[in-house]
Amino acid sequence: MGTSRRNLIQTFAAGGAALAAASETTSAVAHTHTEADVTASLTLMSPSDFGEPSSQERELKVVSIERLEDEARKILSPGRFAIMGPCGDGWTYRENRRAFYDFPILPRRLQDVEDIDLRTTLLGHALPIPVITCPTGAQGNFHINGELPNAAGTGMAGSLFVASGASNQPMEAIAKATTGPKWFQIYMNRDMEINRWLVQRAKAAGFSAVVLTADALGPGQSDAYIALGRPHDPALTAGNHDPKFGGHGNFHDQKRDLSFSDITFLREASGLPVLVKGVVQPDDIRQSLAEGAAGIWVSNHGGRQMDGGPASISLLRAAVDEVGGRVPVILDSGVRRGIDIFKALSLGATAVGIGRPALWGLIDGGSLGVKSVYAQLAFELKSTMLLSGVAKVTDLNRANLARV
Ligand SMILES: Cc1cc2nc3c(=O)[nH]c(=O)nc-3n(C[C@H](O)[C@H](O)[C@H](O)COP(=O)(O)O)c2cc1C
Repeated sequence: MGTSRRNLIQTFAAGGAALAAASETTSAVAHTHTEADVTASLTLMSPSDFGEPSSQERELKVVSIERLEDEARKILSPGRFAIMGPCGDGWTYRENRRAFYDFPILPRRLQDVEDIDLRTTLLGHALPIPVITCPTGAQGNFHINGELPNAAGTGMAGSLFVASGASNQPMEAIAKATTGPKWFQIYMNRDMEINRWLVQRAKAAGFSAVVLTADALGPGQSDAYIALGRPHDPALTAGNHDPKFGGHGNFHDQKRDLSFSDITFLREASGLPVLVKGVVQPDDIRQSLAEGAAGIWVSNHGGRQMDGGPASISLLRAAVDEVGGRVPVILDSGVRRGIDIFKALSLGATAVGIGRPALWGLIDGGSLGVKSVYAQLAFELKSTMLLSGVAKVTDLNRANLARV
């Protein structure tokens, strides 16, 4: 048997590749490609080439957030790096960036901008900047301490961390790692008692809201990752379910008959506000609000789940209009610069989420790296406000854009 074929079999035999790939899919879905398909087109990566996650802990001198990705690529093996890649041919991923340029900023002049104020409030939490850290799964692939430094760095920046239901660390450890506010994101399980148990645990651990992710029921892995044979670290497990941390249940047994009534279930089971992440269509937003959604999170998962859909920012205006100010609206997917935050807030978002930028900060610099990402975004947003003549982020509106 050739080395490639042996490696391929080891990869599948070890199982759990879906989670190891920061997965948000069921194992059934993650193995959509048959072994024959995979063997036909791949350069398989040997498990030893998967390398180690980052162990960095340092402040970063940030030129731009995009440049942090170049650094991360140097630190991780191609297999680990590919886990963050876009799905399909990356059209939606690229569109997430391009579409920000559909909304040029219209600066005002001779306004009093002596005191720039970036503060906002999100579901009762006072934030120093309208930016929060998105839930991203299986961060043990990226840093030896998994989710903990990302949570800690977000807390150092005074902002809100969203713990993924697909974390490698158990939620209680993540909750303790941050001094800031925190929400728990859930991938619903077929077993409703597991869902009840997860959200009740989250409440007991101090998470103040539940985020239901609605857009990740299908294959979500990058071509680059599949092409390497989905290499993974078998030591990484679903932290909330691992018996070693007192957990139980099968993370991969994902509920695929999700419906709007699940929002009500999660509200009642947790006693917490429930936000819905990945709803983008006005009718879906209307039904989510009818079930008591406490927030709408406009996202296409960073172009990581389904290729071919529009950029998040292209859908924001209609989403905001549907919500009509009843609940906060969060926008993620493609946010990299202060001008992006300015544009999203001008279109009506309450705050933006950063997924990969926080991961690049984590890989390049651990908790201090994540803090540096926030510092850079605050610096850029402040400069944009100064140069466009708006003193408070809460005053941003569509008149601050040349075209909406
Ligand atoms: C490696 C990776 C893992 C992710 N895992 C999750 C997850 O577990 N749950 C979830 O709701 N979204 C997940 N997402 C999506 C992010 O929450 C967010 O929507 C996306 O990263 C935003 O786009 P950006 O990376 O361009 O900022 C993941 C994204 C990445 C890149």
